[in-house]
Amino acid sequence: MTDNKITDALQIVLADNYALYLKTQNYHWNVTGANFRSLHLLFEEQYTDLFTANDDIAERIRTLGSKVPATLGIFASVTNIEDGNENADAQTMVKELADDQAKILKSLTNALHAAQKAQDEATIDFIINRIGVHEKAAWILRSSLL
Ligand SMILES: [Fe+2]
Repeated sequence: MTDNKITDALQIVLADNYALYLKTQNYHWNVTGANFRSLHLLFEEQYTDLFTANDDIAERIRTLGSKVPATLGIFASVTNIEDGNENADAQTMVKELADDQAKILKSLTNALHAAQKAQDEATIDFIINRIGVHEKAAWILRSSLL
C-alpha cells in the first residue's frame, strides 16, 4: 500500500483489473458449448480492454506520485476477484464474469470517493470513464445469460 488514499484505492482497482483480465482470458481459452464462438469473441473483446486498462491504471498511480507494487503475489492478496475455473460451463463463466464486473465497480466507486474528497478532477474523470466501461461490460454479460 502507498501513503495516499487515492493511490491505495487505485491499487485495489489495479489488482481487481489484473485478476479479471487473467480470468476473462482463461474463459476465452476454455469456454465450450453451443455459444462457443460468440462467448470466445466477447471474452476477447473484454480482456483486450482490461489489458489496456492495467497500464492506464498503473500509470495513473505513478502520475499521482506513488510507486506501483506489481507482483502476482500482491495482486492475489489484494484483489476481490476469485480465480476462474477452466472446467466451469459457459453459463457459469458468464455469470461469474458479470458478478466480477460488479465487484470491480465497487472498487472503482471507493477510488472515486477518495478522488472526489481530494478534488482530483483528472482522476475523477479517469475513474468515471472506467465505471462506464464496466457497467456496459456487466450489461453485455448479464444479457448473455440464458
Ligand atoms: Fe485468442
